[in-house]
Amino acid sequence: MTDPRQADASTEAESDPFEDFNRAQGQGQVVNPYPKFAEWRSQAPVLKVSFADMLGSDRDLPGELPDVYAVVTHDAVSEVLRDGARFSSSGYALQMGPVMGKTILQMDEPEHSRYRTLIQQAFSRKTIENWNRELIKPVIDELVDRFVERGSADLVRELTFPFPVAVIAGMIGIPEADHANFHRWAVELISVGFAPERGLAASRKLGDYFAGLLAERRRKPENDLMSVLAAAELDDGTRLEDEEIFAFLRLLAPAGAETTYRSSSNLLRGLLGAPEQLEAVRNDRSLLPQAIEEGLRWECPLLSIMRTATCDTEVGGVKLPKGAFINVNMGSANHDESRYENPDAFDIFRPQRQHMAFAFGPHRCLGMHLARAETVTLLNTLLDRLPGLRLDPERADSPEAQITGLIFRSPAALPVCFDGAA
Ligand code: HEM
Repeated sequence: MTDPRQADASTEAESDPFEDFNRAQGQGQVVNPYPKFAEWRSQAPVLKVSFADMLGSDRDLPGELPDVYAVVTHDAVSEVLRDGARFSSSGYALQMGPVMGKTILQMDEPEHSRYRTLIQQAFSRKTIENWNRELIKPVIDELVDRFVERGSADLVRELTFPFPVAVIAGMIGIPEADHANFHRWAVELISVGFAPERGLAASRKLGDYFAGLLAERRRKPENDLMSVLAAAELDDGTRLEDEEIFAFLRLLAPAGAETTYRSSSNLLRGLLGAPEQLEAVRNDRSLLPQAIEEGLRWECPLLSIMRTATCDTEVGGVKLPKGAFINVNMGSANHDESRYENPDAFDIFRPQRQHMAFAFGPHRCLGMHLARAETVTLLNTLLDRLPGLRLDPERADSPEAQITGLIFRSPAALPVCFDGAA
């Protein structure tokens, strides 16, 4: 595995797209948005807020921006996400369409389920079990091998950042030598909002790259996602167009890489910050699933998503006009005090209740079984191989080791120490 920061030197000179993307998402700036969300919840389940407020910005933003309806309580978030007829996902076409192509994320029913069904099997729990043995475990072990003898590491840079992209790249069938470029292009792609040229260039590079791989798999299918997509047929017996395949793969890159890297970093931050809970999990691995769900609830990696009202409607007693731009705040829903006692605390022993980190309804995360399997394997490997794992006491309170960000949230670094090699 190569370091993505060393990839594709042609675009490297001006700036680092990883740093730029993190900055644009408020990384390092928005430390704790939860008090603001609590204040909103105390006012109403749905509120009209300014774009700047939604982005956690304390400055006015340039240009004409629409007001946004922020949906902030658990019940209201659940109602909006379940009802794809009243609340459309088509707004993603404008936001992401130019760089991704037409993806399932922007489709409404019935088109959405025709396409989602095609690929769902490849992400089922059973299929993921095979990927776990063949791909996830070896990828994680190889990364841990590189620092296990050292007794210290930055778990973000050396593990949680590179591993999910290596997994999704492996699942697609991308050879290891190309993983670093794939990761760079994936991050550049979703930077389109603030770096349009870079986003469009990355989209073309990914398309060209996928075209070559697709041609190879048509000649000689392998046991990978590219081969599944090359052979997939819609319910009327037609094959997917090449562009439809590329759009799906362009979506998987950031969907699979950005979120799991952040969710596993946040979970580790929670456990490392509560050594007695880490110890409990170390001694009883049956606690892992509930620890993972609590990590996702406590600090979900993707705080909010968007929808558009298709008609004049109402949620939680608040009227929404047709065409209203809706910010569905899953982070706020996950901290709703009417559902979770002491919601800002990380507590793996709290009563388990369905959280919203993977969203809900028709667009509920397709990769959730994969994300969970990756995190179980990651945690088991760390607990097996790094005895005495703890935050480096000298850097534990540094700003970079705190979870920050408004739309995407995670720590920039996880400096840790551990005892001896295993
Ligand atoms: C902890 C990690 C993850 C989180 C928190 C997460 C979160 C989400 C959320 C909130 C959505 C709904 C977006 C919307 O409706 O606007 C979503 C959709 C999706 N996710 Fe994930 N995701 C994660 C991991 C993954 C992984 C590993 C993959 C695959 C490699 C993936 C693939 C997808 C896809 C394809 C969709 C679109 C589903 C659809 O439109 O029907 N996700 N994810």
